[in-house]
Amino acid sequence: MTTKSVRTTTVVLATALSIGCGPAGVERPPPRSAPPAAATPAAPPPAAAPAPRSLYDRLGGKPAIEAVVGEFVGRVAADKRINGRFINTDITRLKGLLVDFVCAATGGPCSYAGRDMHTTHAGFQIVDAEFDALVEDLAGALAKFNVPQREQNELLGALGPLKPQIVNPPPPEAGAHDPKLAEAAGKLVAELRQSGAGPSADLLELAVTARLRGQRSYAEVLYSAAERQLPEGKLAALNPLFREGAPERITTELKKMPENTPAQPKTAVGGSEEDNPDAKPLRGSLVGTMHIEGGDKELGVIALEPMGGKKAKRKPKQRVMEQRDRQFAPRLLAIPAGSTVSFPNFDPVYHNVFSLSPARAFDLGIYKNGESRDVTFEKEGIIRLGCNLHANMTAHVVVVAAPHYVVSEPGGRYKFKSLAPGKYKLRAWAEDSTEPVTKTIEIKEGENTLNLDIPRGAAAGLGTDKFGLPRGKAP
Ligand code: HEM
Repeated sequence: MTTKSVRTTTVVLATALSIGCGPAGVERPPPRSAPPAAATPAAPPPAAAPAPRSLYDRLGGKPAIEAVVGEFVGRVAADKRINGRFINTDITRLKGLLVDFVCAATGGPCSYAGRDMHTTHAGFQIVDAEFDALVEDLAGALAKFNVPQREQNELLGALGPLKPQIVNPPPPEAGAHDPKLAEAAGKLVAELRQSGAGPSADLLELAVTARLRGQRSYAEVLYSAAERQLPEGKLAALNPLFREGAPERITTELKKMPENTPAQPKTAVGGSEEDNPDAKPLRGSLVGTMHIEGGDKELGVIALEPMGGKKAKRKPKQRVMEQRDRQFAPRLLAIPAGSTVSFPNFDPVYHNVFSLSPARAFDLGIYKNGESRDVTFEKEGIIRLGCNLHANMTAHVVVVAAPHYVVSEPGGRYKFKSLAPGKYKLRAWAEDSTEPVTKTIEIKEGENTLNLDIPRGAAAGLGTDKFGLPRGKAP
């Protein structure tokens, strides 16, 4: 925010506060009562007690909240204890969400459309000291605008109970490290500062503090940011301090995808019959519904492998799993073994796609704005994808070795239109499966029906980050 705009908002706020935040006890006139409906004059009703004024009104309404949030964000940006937290944040979007959040939390006429506090923050492994620093910055912003003590206390009191959803310190063992590497990092910070590379030195210093606290993902983001500012290889000796414990890092050159690349479908994609339709439909078909434990929200994949006879082999495909509007799309992708998936990020913020699944563990590192990296999937199985920077983002890739596979529609319906009669080995996965459900089935001529119950495998919740550190319990 510029000095001029701070001054302007100060004036707006002062005006708003003088109207809205007078001495405690100044009340609004009671609402005017409607004129009597009947001609007979009625005795005037006893004067109703005026409704207590909301904190929102007493703060001075939306202009006042906007001004305080602007000042607060400025203070956070200058606060070296926590400003590294916001290096991958779209600040304009955050300000808007904070205004709506505070407006709604204080009884104002706004609705908050952002993510819940647990999902937004739990993966950050925020510690008490960071929470306290942020509250201090907010208190400073309120004091700067002379918000009366009572309203300051009420606002901070309304936000305080959110602390358990926001603070989620890493387990102490996450801070274990080689002290020689930490010492080398400290020396490099001093060296960088001396050579005039102050911003990189600041980032590296913050990265070391986070690493020693056990905030592995945060430390690596800061480290990656410092790395991008410096000549290639300058920090390489410190890689083990920051990257050990993460899955195989894929460092192939980034590809650029055209900005107008059409958006991917949001639900499930993939099917052998779409990819390789039979010239003439075979005599059997199979329809049914997948009932997934805990509701029908999840999507699934069913694969069929003929037992005996000639087995069609599916050719590997090239597919896309994009990151757009802070979501993966599609949410579930079924591919034949050997296929390659591109992972373009169409958001203006960094994402870091990773998987810890045994069928294919990898770490794509950070990139944004249409940049993309590829991963090839050879082994059959389900792969849970996450973004190491946004705990709300998950999607699954199911790699299938069998020649026939379909994805279910939302609600669980699925259909194989063309199957040769005979015995098949069936495997089925839901989004949260760790292992497939397997059975032997027989397809007869004509339409066959099979409904499937699929148990949930993975624990509900936000999973872990790429270092395997917990992101907090389900909200
Ligand atoms: C009572 C305290 C807090 C409140 C009410 C709060 C509120 C919010 C809200 C409303 C958002 C936007 C959510 C969204 O992106 O959908 C957000 C994002 C964020 N918060 Fe907090 N927050 C609090 C404490 C903290 C603390 C202590 C930190 C770290 C020092 C922090 C770091 C962040 C970051 C980095 C984001 C941006 C996430 C992104 O870019 O995706 N917050 N917060």
